[in-house]
Amino acid sequence: MKHGILLVGCGRMGSALLVGWIERGFDPKAIVVVEPSQAPLGVQGVLDESNIPADFKPDVVLLAVKPQLMDAVLPPYARFADHAVFLSIAAGRTLASFERILGPTAAVVRSMPNTPAAVGRGITVACANRMATSLQKARTEELLSAVGEVAWVADESQIDAVTAVSGSGPAYVFFLAEALAKAGEKAGLAPDLAAKLASATVAGSGELLYRAGSPPKVLRENVTSPGGTTAAALAVLMAESGGLQDLMDRAVEAAANRSRELAS
Ligand SMILES: NC(=O)c1ccc[n+]([C@@H]2O[C@H](COP(=O)([O-])OP(=O)(O)OC[C@H]3O[C@@H](n4cnc5c(N)ncnc54)[C@H](OP(=O)(O)O)[C@@H]3O)[C@@H](O)[C@H]2O)c1
Repeated sequence: MKHGILLVGCGRMGSALLVGWIERGFDPKAIVVVEPSQAPLGVQGVLDESNIPADFKPDVVLLAVKPQLMDAVLPPYARFADHAVFLSIAAGRTLASFERILGPTAAVVRSMPNTPAAVGRGITVACANRMATSLQKARTEELLSAVGEVAWVADESQIDAVTAVSGSGPAYVFFLAEALAKAGEKAGLAPDLAAKLASATVAGSGELLYRAGSPPKVLRENVTSPGGTTAAALAVLMAESGGLQDLMDRAVEAAANRSRELAS
């Protein structure tokens, strides 16, 4: 098998990737999924590593199990290290942690996707070790791009900041919708209506940002008339001290610090 994909773990993120590959026309016969708890749709699924067909030679082993399981799950897959690239999406698992188990000559790509991958609109940042060839990097990018955009960093330490911005970022945006709804209630709206307005505004603005392809600053300026209502709100949100930038700086710093603490 020249282009076989071995997907290890088919939970939320693994199944989002699998759906993306099938939708993009990848050959289902070239995919084997190892997943103990649920049968994957449309491809060959096995319950554990020992049931992988002997003649299946993946060119990519995609590791999509929980980070804390990786040390226990990974060792038997080291047998693929002579010809496959290992692509991990596990948060906090460093390239060195894979090399320790797979050996120093294993090709490894560490990546950090985010939850909009579930609707094909994620962004994943990837970082390769020295053993990964440019062809292998291109192949891993092809697989990751099935669920959204892909960017690369050469310096693995940047993954902490990436985690803090795009990995954890969707939660900040969801919280923005919650906070906007609460503020709407305080301004006199019924809770249901406030929640509906806030969620639709965040979702619609995200879609507009995506489709317009303009920087967010331009879109913001386009909807802000001097002396108007939006300008009044932005004067509060954009205050030099105690404004949203201040809070966001602290939030991202806290997440990046936590990412460094959790890395193994
Ligand atoms: N979800 C996200 O938004 C997100 C974002 C960035 C990174 N990630 C990373 O993606 C990885 C998967 O996360 P997830 O949210 O998709 O988790 P998940 O839904 O729990 O999926 C993990 C899957 O792996 C299965 N599994 C457990 N042991 C296994 C084994 N020995 N061999 C093969 N499969 C096994 C689990 O089955 P059981 O349920 O039976 O245990 C589960 O179906 C994690 O490392 C996480 O850090 C996720």
